[in-house]
Amino acid sequence: MSTTNSLKMDKPTPDSLFDTSTQGIIGKPLDRKEGPHKVSGAATYAAEYQIENLAYGVLVGAPFGKGKIIGIESDVAKALPGVIDVVTDFNTFLTAPAQGLAPKAPQGVENVQYFGEIVAIVLAESFEAARDAAQQVVIKHEAADDGRYDFEALKGEAEKPAKGDIPPHYSQGDLEKAMAEAAVTVDSTFTTPSQNSAAMEPHASIATWDDSGMLTLHGSYQMPGNDVEQLAAALGVSKSKVRIVARYVGGGFGSKLGIAPESVAAALAAKALGRPVKAVMARQQVFDATVRRSNTEQRIRLGATADGKLTALGHETLTSNLPDDDYFEPTGQATHFLYSAENREINHDIVRLDWLLSGSMRAPGEAVGMLALEGAMDELAEKLGIDPIEFRKINEPEMDPEKGVPHSSRELVRCMDVGATSFGWDKRNATPGTRREGEWLVGIGMAAAARSNMLQPSEARVTLSATGRATVETDMTDIGTGTYTILGQIAGEVLGLPLEHVDVELGDTNFPTAAGSGGSFGAGSSGTSVYLAAEAIREKIAKAMGVDVDALTLKDGHAIADNRRVPLGELAGEGMVAVGSIKPGKQEKETTQSSYGAHFAEVGVNAVTGEVRVRRMLGVFAAGRILNAKTARSQCLGGMTFGIGTALTEDLIHDPRNGKLVNRDLAEYHVPVNADVPQLKVEFLEERDIHANPMHAKGIGELGISGAGAAIANAVYNATGVRVRDYPLTLDKILDGLPAL
Ligand code: MOS
Repeated sequence: MSTTNSLKMDKPTPDSLFDTSTQGIIGKPLDRKEGPHKVSGAATYAAEYQIENLAYGVLVGAPFGKGKIIGIESDVAKALPGVIDVVTDFNTFLTAPAQGLAPKAPQGVENVQYFGEIVAIVLAESFEAARDAAQQVVIKHEAADDGRYDFEALKGEAEKPAKGDIPPHYSQGDLEKAMAEAAVTVDSTFTTPSQNSAAMEPHASIATWDDSGMLTLHGSYQMPGNDVEQLAAALGVSKSKVRIVARYVGGGFGSKLGIAPESVAAALAAKALGRPVKAVMARQQVFDATVRRSNTEQRIRLGATADGKLTALGHETLTSNLPDDDYFEPTGQATHFLYSAENREINHDIVRLDWLLSGSMRAPGEAVGMLALEGAMDELAEKLGIDPIEFRKINEPEMDPEKGVPHSSRELVRCMDVGATSFGWDKRNATPGTRREGEWLVGIGMAAAARSNMLQPSEARVTLSATGRATVETDMTDIGTGTYTILGQIAGEVLGLPLEHVDVELGDTNFPTAAGSGGSFGAGSSGTSVYLAAEAIREKIAKAMGVDVDALTLKDGHAIADNRRVPLGELAGEGMVAVGSIKPGKQEKETTQSSYGAHFAEVGVNAVTGEVRVRRMLGVFAAGRILNAKTARSQCLGGMTFGIGTALTEDLIHDPRNGKLVNRDLAEYHVPVNADVPQLKVEFLEERDIHANPMHAKGIGELGISGAGAAIANAVYNATGVRVRDYPLTLDKILDGLPAL
């Protein structure tokens, strides 16, 4: 019989089973459970399922910006060998939102919102035939004459967006007055461009309908539980008629939080054809028609007393999105709680543009917000003549500076101190442009890291079988983050099983609904559901042993109590099953929860060319209990690498005439490659957060990027004396300001 063990985080949970359990696998740097499947090619990604009678679909995008389709000529395409059909019935073929958790009213693709929006799918017996025919489809259209494509020209028309996860406008005290009265001030404007998540695996779906009208979609998605709802809404069917399978996901970074057009196109085409359809987006289509991170313009105002106490803090941001979309990049998310200052103004306004939808990309908010805030902090520290670390310590808030509630746990100061020692911060010359090695100017910089910690409702089922093995089942995903491994470790630790004796089944909406992978809440949320399910099974084991649960030791597949040592399989009988269910509660309001860290970077800037090379980086992080030291470290390495791209190379360019993305592939949109990334060092501090969840773990997936790029920009300033506030820091922006050779 299945039991449900539910917990709502209304109170802190000071007692963790992990502090008394004896299996000893939590936190260990264990290898990924699914690693051998991946490196041997046995892991099946969405497009790789071998399904009989499959038709191949290739998507067609609108070759114009905002406007209207007046006809689609597909006779030539349909006549080509191997071509089955071209689906262009856009009264039923809906463009679903690529993101946004609420399903939206269907929109016919007769009205095109942005350049490249998917408007047709060509179906053929082979991929090659479909791709060839897709080139022959002619979209006749009228471009609208009121298209809005130029951010610079339209930024005067910014509006206040609808309320998002954080209020778009926040004000406390009198910022203007505090700025006027401050001994030292900074008023700097930073800009960041649109960005693409650039996950390795492109968006891909195989849609199969069965005779009962049930759709199975093998897709590459981060949050199957939500995606099922979006897909069902887009198709106009009940969510009970849709199943999503996403066992392996080759990265997402936000771009796969919501459904993308290929899933809807494949599902509609499969329905029309009466056979399964596969649709894989080409890399250029992933750029054109999934989601981007918004460009930003951020004004930071800081005012301080002569001894470095912040009295004024302003962070005002412009971002961009489509006319009807609610989402805005919450750049001020960490600014709300990172530093004390009595007078505060944190505003987000939005410029309505007919560019590709903007949405969440890794660390939405902090990833670009901290590029500005942490750059301005460096500027003010210099003006004050105070060391940047010392300056941050002076402004360390006792409590949340806006809500007046305590931090659940906060080790920013210790991260900076440990990092400073490890990195050799004392060797930094505060005067910029003074360290030179041949033709290289060398400098070091630092920035704080912070990423809000969140908990989302999540459920998982754990079964202990008569063989003594345990199975974890949940529709949680592993998007490269290590979920398979940590969920196995959690169940194994609580049940006293080695990791090899725990099977983990993920990414199938037939399993209990999980939080999904997003917002760095995956491990804490889905991990707690597994912990709770295993806790319930532990109680069943105690009962079967006839002892109090507190008298029970579970280790190496045995229950030990009362001088007895019994194999778990014997106690399991027909099998023991429990569901764990976690929900957020009062703790998220009664405490401010965030993971913290400190980034350190050393760069060389070529004195002749202005080229920036990152020489070394260190990130010191405190994110509560670390569940697996290896996969956690990999998350941070990935985040810091993201930071290098953000700081130095990534720049998605929109044609101001029609919004078309100009550099829509990985040859022209520059993510860091091996040669750009030096040895990165990651250190974790011991920390527990009893307000986050009973595992005492906080989020880590997006912590590594938050602040990383600012440390690099601050190092470039230290190396050269050139302060670039227009990201990325390409050599053309640095060259003119370099000291004479
Ligand atoms: Mo993340 S941008 O919430 O996948």
